[in-house]
Amino acid sequence: MEKALQELKKLLGEVMDLQGAAAVLNWDQQTFMPSGGAETRGEQLGTLAKITHDKATSPRIGELLEKLTAVGYTDPDSDDARLVRNGLKDFTKASKVPSSWVAEFAQVTAVGQEAWEKSREGSDFSKFQPHLEKIVRLRQQYAEYFKPYDHVYDPLLDDFEPGLKTREVQAIFTGLRDEQVNLIKAISSRPQVDDAFLKRQYKEEKQKAFGEDVITRFGYDWNCGRQDKAAHPFTTSFGLGDVRITTRYLEDDGASGLFSSMHEAGHAMYEQGISPTIKRTPMFTGASSAIHESQSRMWENLVGRSHEFWTFYYPKFQAAFPENLANVSLDTFYKGINKVQPSFIRVEADEATYNLHVMLRLEIEIALLEGSILVKDLPAFWNHKMQEYLGITPKNDTKGVLQDVHWSAGLIGYFPTYALGNLISLQLWEKINADIPSLPDQIRSGNFAELLDWLRKKVHTHGAKFEPQDLVQRVTGSKITPEPYIRYLKKKYSEIYGF
Ligand code: CO
Repeated sequence: MEKALQELKKLLGEVMDLQGAAAVLNWDQQTFMPSGGAETRGEQLGTLAKITHDKATSPRIGELLEKLTAVGYTDPDSDDARLVRNGLKDFTKASKVPSSWVAEFAQVTAVGQEAWEKSREGSDFSKFQPHLEKIVRLRQQYAEYFKPYDHVYDPLLDDFEPGLKTREVQAIFTGLRDEQVNLIKAISSRPQVDDAFLKRQYKEEKQKAFGEDVITRFGYDWNCGRQDKAAHPFTTSFGLGDVRITTRYLEDDGASGLFSSMHEAGHAMYEQGISPTIKRTPMFTGASSAIHESQSRMWENLVGRSHEFWTFYYPKFQAAFPENLANVSLDTFYKGINKVQPSFIRVEADEATYNLHVMLRLEIEIALLEGSILVKDLPAFWNHKMQEYLGITPKNDTKGVLQDVHWSAGLIGYFPTYALGNLISLQLWEKINADIPSLPDQIRSGNFAELLDWLRKKVHTHGAKFEPQDLVQRVTGSKITPEPYIRYLKKKYSEIYGF
């Protein structure tokens, strides 16, 4: 059996090598590649994707997985047992989807993304509509390959949150929705905080130096990573020892680039903390999109937007930008970076409104898959829901239904992970603070080592060994639940807005 295990690891290792190589090409495409290289790069990535898929679904891997599954492991939580169990699930899932579907999906989404860009530029939904109709139909078909399911959305959600069910997410969101809507109403009834000082000129090179100092203190390992500029910030891992991040700076917004760096560093430190013993296996990544987002949001919001953090860093930030901040107090600054205002664009939303943007998208995705709304009715449905949740209606579809790239890329099932990540970040945070009572003091003195160490031991080291619900249960003692997040929002914003 040892021989079979070694052969499986060798084959999976090669799949991981190919994925890592594709990640390098992707990273280059989004950072340094000249625009003339786009077509050639597309061909290279297409070829690599095909070779990777063929290798990952080769009959030999299937044979080895079945043989090893039959063995049974004395410790079901050992790396080897998990490798086989998770491997069999992935293999079975991938094998259910015919390659004709994969090819059609790739073609439809490639054309769909171009159509979406044009449609968005001109704020003309009708240009995107026929493409989205095809994408929805393909996604419905995709779900059919996994029958029987409890809910048509389950197979899609499972691609991002292994093991999680649609009914679970709906129950979690139901507990959250009214609380958040009421909180926003309470905030809107109070005088707005001042953040005009953030909208002055902040020189890029100073922002860069400050941001690098912050993420270095957080514990981002520069020997195993680097940071470059990209239009849409992201984190990418090429495997052990190379996890890169990107950011962007807005000179008329003093904090946006900084928070973006903190966010991506949170993703990257997760990947940098996975145990080397599972390198070159499919477990050498985050447990799920939501667990990943719990890490980025923790560093960005729970640390980076906290009063404790700025008690340490504000004097330095003020010294870097005296022309903008000399007369702005720490408290005014803290309130400014935590301003709550219902807005149209999800990626610019504050902590209190963000989840509502996500819930709206989940409702739409489920309704589309169930067939209870039609693609052509989406703009009206979107605007109606925005009014209901956030009390605002976008002037055009560019600021509404056309704002996200996800659907054009065929990513249906991804959105809920953003909100779940927020909730998990607070569940972990309550546990961390119970385990490390001096954490607020440590953050006030710019010391993040014990926090990172806790995350490394409890979360990072496991990589994707455990399913998200299982991991959250193991670490916090309960499954994903909204209460800690609601508690956090109420406390934080009642203090800032005084209600
Ligand atoms: Co993220």
